[in-house]
Amino acid sequence: MIEFDAVTKFHPGKSEPAVSDLSLEIAAGELCVFIGPSGCGKTTSLRLINRLETQSSGVIRVNGVANDAMDVVTLRRSIGFMMQNAALFPHRTVSENIATVPRLLGWKPADIGARVEELTTLLGLPAELLGRYPGQLSGGQQSRVALARALASDPPVVLMDEPFAALDPVIREHLQDELVALQRRLRKTIILVTHDMDEAMRLGDRIAVFEGHGQLAQFEAPAQLLAQPKNDFVRQFVGSDPSLKRLALMKVSDLETGPAPDTSHVASIGHPLDSRFTLALNERSQPLAWHSSNGAKAPKLAVVTGEETLQQALLKILNNAGSTAVHVDIEGRYKGCVTCYCLYKALNS
Ligand SMILES: Nc1ncnc2c1ncn2[C@@H]1O[C@H](COP(=O)(O)OP(=O)(O)OP(=O)(O)O)[C@@H](O)[C@H]1O
Ligand SMILES: [Mg+2]
Repeated sequence: MIEFDAVTKFHPGKSEPAVSDLSLEIAAGELCVFIGPSGCGKTTSLRLINRLETQSSGVIRVNGVANDAMDVVTLRRSIGFMMQNAALFPHRTVSENIATVPRLLGWKPADIGARVEELTTLLGLPAELLGRYPGQLSGGQQSRVALARALASDPPVVLMDEPFAALDPVIREHLQDELVALQRRLRKTIILVTHDMDEAMRLGDRIAVFEGHGQLAQFEAPAQLLAQPKNDFVRQFVGSDPSLKRLALMKVSDLETGPAPDTSHVASIGHPLDSRFTLALNERSQPLAWHSSNGAKAPKLAVVTGEETLQQALLKILNNAGSTAVHVDIEGRYKGCVTCYCLYKALNS
């Protein structure tokens, strides 16, 4: 869908390249993250795609066609662009900001209105914001409007340059979750730039790690990047806690626990690590509480569902003295126990 073929870019007057012999292919429907230190050429690489910059050598193909062989206006209108720091038009209302590209494309006013309404619903923007100016919005709201503007003409490709960098961690995490949910539905081809490896791991189908001068150090799915960093630079960039990050990429349902035991005729089940404790189940096999056989203090019950990550399971194990979390299905029925050893096995399988 988007292919960099031996692309090098020297900015005017610079002797060092901002992008060096970059070759990589991003598939249709993929969310690819560009990450690397400040000044390593991430923004330049994005701007080359929609020809806000021109490469010094090499070819960039969009859907198999060299982007410099395409009409530049058509090219830019087929690509949504969310710039660093939202960059909304300050003197246009929210509604006018979102409508920018449909208006340039000459859509009928009624169609533009319907699309603005659709996007505000999709991105959870309250309708009363539509008449406000960007300066009257919070940072999180500005990011949503910028994303709505980038999606307005339903382009197949969306480029996002540090879309959430200026937000506080809680709102950032919230918007990251929303982007994941949105992408599941829309399946755009997205390139997202970030400085934040946790964000990259959370969002990226694949992550391109850049060293200085736009040299690609590694291009890999998050789990492989963590398990097999190619060199010291990537290892350092990935951080000192690759195991914790890998736990965040795996779900409880990924654990190889085998079929759930038949608990239909039992009222309790033993603790996997400590024979003093049993787990009481109700008639629907839902766990009730841990009980102790010899007066020892029974652990508090902690349950996890298959949708939770192994990192969340670890936190639950650490936060209760029983050294296990009870895995339940969506109806709350007992499926098994998750212990630190299960997590160790998952990391080392
Ligand atoms: N218009 C320009 N003219 C000259 N040099 C430029 C221009 N734009 C960027 N550069 C230089 O090119 C290099 C790459 O810049 P770029 O903005 O692509 O980096 P980045 O990875 O996006 O950095 P950051 O993470 O800080 O946003 C830097 O050395 C920068 O100073
Ligand atoms: Mg940048």
